[in-house]
Amino acid sequence: MSAIRPAAVVVLAAGEGTRMKSATPKVLHEICGRSLVGHVLAAARELKPEQLVVVVGHAREKVSEHLGSVDPNARTAVQETQNGTGHAVRMGLEELGGNVEGTVVVVCGDTPLLRGRTLQALAETHRADGNAVTVLTAEVPDATGYGRIVRDDSGAVTAIVEHKDASETQRAIREINSGVFAFDGRLLADALGKVRTDNSQGEEYLTDVLGILREAGHRVGASVAGDHREIAGINNRVQLAEARRTLNERLLESAMLAGVTVVDPASTWIDVTVTFEQDALVHPGTQLLGATHLAEGAEVGPNCRLTDTQVGAGARVVNTVADRAQVGPEASVGPFAYLRPGTRLGRKSKVGTYVETKNASLGEGTKVPHLSYVGDATIGEFSNIGAASVFVNYDGQDKHHTTVGSHCRTGSDNMFVAPVTIGDGAYTAAGSVITKDVPPGSLAVARGQQRNIEGWVARKRPGSAAAKAAEAASGQGGGEG
Ligand code: UD1
Ligand code: CA
Repeated sequence: MSAIRPAAVVVLAAGEGTRMKSATPKVLHEICGRSLVGHVLAAARELKPEQLVVVVGHAREKVSEHLGSVDPNARTAVQETQNGTGHAVRMGLEELGGNVEGTVVVVCGDTPLLRGRTLQALAETHRADGNAVTVLTAEVPDATGYGRIVRDDSGAVTAIVEHKDASETQRAIREINSGVFAFDGRLLADALGKVRTDNSQGEEYLTDVLGILREAGHRVGASVAGDHREIAGINNRVQLAEARRTLNERLLESAMLAGVTVVDPASTWIDVTVTFEQDALVHPGTQLLGATHLAEGAEVGPNCRLTDTQVGAGARVVNTVADRAQVGPEASVGPFAYLRPGTRLGRKSKVGTYVETKNASLGEGTKVPHLSYVGDATIGEFSNIGAASVFVNYDGQDKHHTTVGSHCRTGSDNMFVAPVTIGDGAYTAAGSVITKDVPPGSLAVARGQQRNIEGWVARKRPGSAAAKAAEAASGQGGGEG
């Protein structure tokens, strides 16, 4: 069957979400790197609707601003007071000119697990059955709070009754209204004009449209979702965490089916924007966020948090926090490394234990193995930076750059006081404070000469354990002569 393009999608996002107990509007809370409403918009966009309008109300400046960044083509309609879902859809249709020809799909902004293909199936059922309205329903274990789907003896849907307005018998029904509908646009507009507010909440219920259309002799239908978890609406932070886990499982599952090894899905968290190549491997306790990419055979974890970071083929990253970094193929990072923005590590390079890098580029095969800070630096190929070195990039006012050439060997405990340049093939002595450029191939020594004051301990610390140890050592040494 060909994909169905609805004339419009209306997203309801005007409610306050009081139960979130948050300064952030409910639909802006995030799971897996995207806001709740962002997930709904992504699913809705898969339908390729001709128009899309989001109904905003509570905290509408914040919500509108967010919409502008995630979906600039979405229109917004304002619902000044939250008089119910029917009223909200009316505001949405007004923004679209009042009368929409064709199919109008309505979704709520707080159902982040809803899939595009489920909406597609709803739209297809709607068209195939020639319905005036088709509601997406699901059988749920606990229907408390939801609108119930009332069917007649033949199984045809007759009405939706809100929990608060339902009789005991109706409350026993486990098939619920997901809040997602496909409507004939013109019939929807007509019916919305007839919705009354004589219910327990004194609101215009969108759900009443179904009964109104049926009574007027139009076809009313339902499409049952295969997985009831998909239509779960988020009302509080417990449900937010449940939805995050469900979505995370879904993302990991598709990664695993595409050839990624995830050792412990329960302790691995990824964003919707993360991408993998085959045979990438993720160890426990790892968060992969934003535009992070693991190339073929890359191995990450345990205990890493990578944000917008690209890990090259066959590279290995252990116990590391990285943000906007690029790790080259077969490079090695960690354990306990911190890669900050602008870090670019060449093929087979190494950033070892307790090393922090920022705006630093390491060429192929270059190593910074231990206890160092490399900030604002360019290091060529196959160089080795001695343990406990600091690229001194900040003079208290400005940042400066250090350049180290290829095939250099710098000693342990060096300070490279930027701006400074170390030429190709140069060496530096351990403990040096390098303040001047080092020409290629030379050895730079920048430290005090060592001086031994013999007998100092015997004179200045007589009787101490040190003095006795020294005396014993000299006795032994002088024993034969
Ligand atoms: C609604 C349905 C219920 C269904 C449930 C599914 C109605 C009357 N009830 O109930 O049958 O089982 O969703 O989750 O439709 N909104 C507005 N403006 C308003 C009121 C709501 O934009 O004036 C938005 C909310 O922001 C939310 C959505 O509509 O995204 C649903 O509203 P909510 O108050 O959560 O409805 P429920 O009582 O859950
Ligand atoms: Ca709700």
